[in-house]
Amino acid sequence: MNVYFEKTHQRSFGTFPLHGEALSSALRDALDVGYRAIDSAQMYGNEAEVGAALRAAGVPRDELCLTTKIHPENFGEDKFLPSLRESLDKLQVEHVDVLLLHWPPMDGDVVPSVKRLEQAARLGLAKHIGVSNYTAAMMRTAKAAIDTPLVTNQVEFHPLLDQRVLLRAATETGIPLSSYCSVARGEVFKYPIFGEIGASYGRSAAQVVLRWILQTGVPINTMSTRRENIQANFDVMDFTLSSVDMDRIDAMTATGYRIIDKKLVPFAPVFD
Ligand SMILES: NC(=O)c1ccc[n+]([C@@H]2O[C@H](COP(=O)([O-])OP(=O)(O)OC[C@H]3O[C@@H](n4cnc5c(N)ncnc54)[C@H](OP(=O)(O)O)[C@@H]3O)[C@@H](O)[C@H]2O)c1
Repeated sequence: MNVYFEKTHQRSFGTFPLHGEALSSALRDALDVGYRAIDSAQMYGNEAEVGAALRAAGVPRDELCLTTKIHPENFGEDKFLPSLRESLDKLQVEHVDVLLLHWPPMDGDVVPSVKRLEQAARLGLAKHIGVSNYTAAMMRTAKAAIDTPLVTNQVEFHPLLDQRVLLRAATETGIPLSSYCSVARGEVFKYPIFGEIGASYGRSAAQVVLRWILQTGVPINTMSTRRENIQANFDVMDFTLSSVDMDRIDAMTATGYRIIDKKLVPFAPVFD
């Protein structure tokens, strides 16, 4: 089974942009609530702090599903594996559970970095590999370039953005999507529909949004600094949105609200 569909790993705890006490306190709460899938990245500059917080929490290593991501500046042959070994040192682990390429390469040729990712898996430095912020065309190219399965394309995914092109590519290639910016960094709360639907299930707007993502077949990645939100975001497995409510939320994707784009990340690809 795909690692993000095992155990509690459909619900990852994201660590961007956390540092210092905010990071250690949020991670302590997340582990206490029950999260075991933790998402970091070289780009976040917090791998050493994540490693220290996980070590201090004392959760057995084999319970954790630790994801990190290679910075595109480290995709070259001379930097890829050394940068990964540095990440492992910082995280205080022998391997990560999932290693992602954080972005497509700046020159647009995905094949060399995807092959290096596969090499990292063959060396035992990553149990599973995947990509992030890939377009549908890049997903197809990556799949064709290597033999090792790609376990995810982690992308911006929430009810205010239409990602049907990527969902179709996920089905076609067998590379499932996983979400980031799952509550659109709070933008979803401007739309009363999520709270209204939640009222009929005794759930919050955030829980409705996350449940919609999960029922769309997409594992979620959420970040919060507040214990009550960390708990609420985890408590989304014991109710089911009706097909009528799923359809109403599907219709919201026409809003076309995208957070992460070329304005924020100049080397972002032209998204589908
Ligand atoms: N692959 C990539 O390129 C990429 C890009 C962006 C993010 N990510 C990953 O995805 C993770 C999550 O994405 P994100 O943090 O950008 O966006 P997000 O989860 O949509 O938004 C986080 C914000 O939403 C608030 N929030 C969370 N749960 C809430 C709830 N139940 N009720 C009310 N407010 C809530 C949090 O505030 P409070 O702290 O006040 O709760 C926080 O300010 C990141 O931490 C990172 O690991 C990956």
